[in-house]
Amino acid sequence: MCQSCQTFAGILVLCLINSVISLDNGLARTPPMGWLAWERFRCNTDCKNDPDNCISENLFRTMADIVISEGYAAVGYEYINVDDCWLEKERNNYGQLVPDRQRFPRGMKSLSDYVHSKGLKFGIYEDYGNYTCAGYPGVLGYLRTDAQTFASWDVDYIKLDGCYAHPSEMDRGYPEFGYYLNQTGRAMIYSCSWPVYQIYAGMQPNFSAIIEHCNLWRNFDDIQDSWASVESIIDYYGNNQDVIVANAGPGHWNDPDMLIIGNFGLSYEQSKTQMAIWAILAAPLLMSVDLRSIRPEYKAILQNKKIIAVDQDPLGIQGRRIYKHKGIEIWSRPITPLYQNYFSYAIAFLNRRTDGTPSDVAVTLKELGLTSPTGYRVEDLYEDVDYGVLSPQTKIKVKVNPSGVVILRADVQSDYKRRVPYFTTQRTVYNPLNQVFRIRSNGF
Ligand code: GLA
Repeated sequence: MCQSCQTFAGILVLCLINSVISLDNGLARTPPMGWLAWERFRCNTDCKNDPDNCISENLFRTMADIVISEGYAAVGYEYINVDDCWLEKERNNYGQLVPDRQRFPRGMKSLSDYVHSKGLKFGIYEDYGNYTCAGYPGVLGYLRTDAQTFASWDVDYIKLDGCYAHPSEMDRGYPEFGYYLNQTGRAMIYSCSWPVYQIYAGMQPNFSAIIEHCNLWRNFDDIQDSWASVESIIDYYGNNQDVIVANAGPGHWNDPDMLIIGNFGLSYEQSKTQMAIWAILAAPLLMSVDLRSIRPEYKAILQNKKIIAVDQDPLGIQGRRIYKHKGIEIWSRPITPLYQNYFSYAIAFLNRRTDGTPSDVAVTLKELGLTSPTGYRVEDLYEDVDYGVLSPQTKIKVKVNPSGVVILRADVQSDYKRRVPYFTTQRTVYNPLNQVFRIRSNGF
């Protein structure tokens, strides 16, 4: 090609990447659900001494089997996701990524085929920089090749981390990799770490670009196996909700990191809290736990269909902390069904106190912003308690255990005689900056 033609072609690609191409893959209309290796299995590469727990094709095959046989798939968990430490340290002669030959002897296409044969989807991890966080080859310099490799392995989900990269280059780099993913013609969920590295570097992430190019993204620290870690994440999302909440919606989600329920660090109450608050946050539900040995009560939390339904609510509105005082927090998320100008809600009462005895919380529905004159059917999502249909004036009382939660669902009641489809005649506008959820009708 002549020199000026090459320059022109180069400019064209850049323009396409910068201005025209957004991710638009139609995926993750509700937050993705699945299993992800990292928090529980880390970078254990010692298959010689620890064959059952090392990062290997056997681990992922086994987890895929259990996701089906133990009923996780039936309640919505779908992705089996590999995290760091799956690679050989060197690319092959064609510059392609190579899975570790000892630990993934049949290769990634074979593992992907196995996961698909179970009716599940397959996810993989890479990093935008020169290396992954654990020091394996990153995608920098090989963006197109690696996107093509993932497509050739029938990958459904890519987590692209941001170690060993310049945060200031991520505004260009993450969309560029997304562009090459699109170019493959295979729809793959694109999970980004773009904002978190920029926030660490003191930058203000450009969330309108991030929403356009990523299906989900990390905002904050890695989750660790402790209640302190879960609390720090809950605080981060509460304290920064005015910036964060409005960015979530069908196809694009904030990712507060994995569910650690069933591991070593959380009590039963704390595990219930993580599940409830993650559902309020419209978070991806990515379990990182040993499904071979999880105790039944923790499995029941992960498989709580009512809470999963809150997480997966089709409106995709992320909830907010609407009250915080003396260790008691109230979190609220607008959900379906809607009736006229009114949402239904999931409401979580969280007790951050450690004074050893349950705390009583009493509040009217109206004080929570639930004002429909038709009333709300209220039920507890962990306990088998149906409060019946309550008016906005009704005061509800809950007892919340230390570091525990009570999560309720309040479904707005319809007045069938006056019923009109909200999507043709009414417009309900959710304003995330309001302290409580106020609803406005028409004129928008
Ligand atoms: C980063 C990510 C983690 C995990 C590790 C792997 O710390 O935030 O979720 O993927 O890298 O090395």
